[in-house]
Amino acid sequence: MKIGISNDHSAVELKMAIMDYLSKKGYQMVNYGTDSTESYDYPIAGKRLAEAVRDKEVDCGIAICGTGIGISLACNKVKTIRAACVSEPVSARLTKEHNNANIICFGARIVGVEMAKAIVDSWLETEYSNEERHQRRIDMISEIENQ
Ligand code: RB5
Repeated sequence: MKIGISNDHSAVELKMAIMDYLSKKGYQMVNYGTDSTESYDYPIAGKRLAEAVRDKEVDCGIAICGTGIGISLACNKVKTIRAACVSEPVSARLTKEHNNANIICFGARIVGVEMAKAIVDSWLETEYSNEERHQRRIDMISEIENQ
């Protein structure tokens, strides 16, 4: 599986740690974020990743900023993107099962590296439930997008 990852200046170290962790597990990682701790605007980082997911350059994405919130807001402005900002693995699992989130976001100033690993594991190892009620609600989100 090919996973895009993106980040602003606040999340370089955590991005590197997650890239290393997932590469060793056999995932192909594509880096869309900054590798510098010089100030880098999270909307740019989010947009680059979200467009790559939308255009199917990668199968899904991981987005990290200080809180995870700003970058998730930016990602969610791109059509077809369902970016979920979480801080623990239960929400990560449920947002795949129920929302089929195609980008997972978290904050480098909020979660430590072990929690971040647990979040990505939980999200990547969970399948979308594909139940009618969940698909109907996802379709409703797409309708809002198209209005
Ligand atoms: C950058 O200082 C910070 O605002 C950003 O990483 C993020 O937390 C925004 O939501």
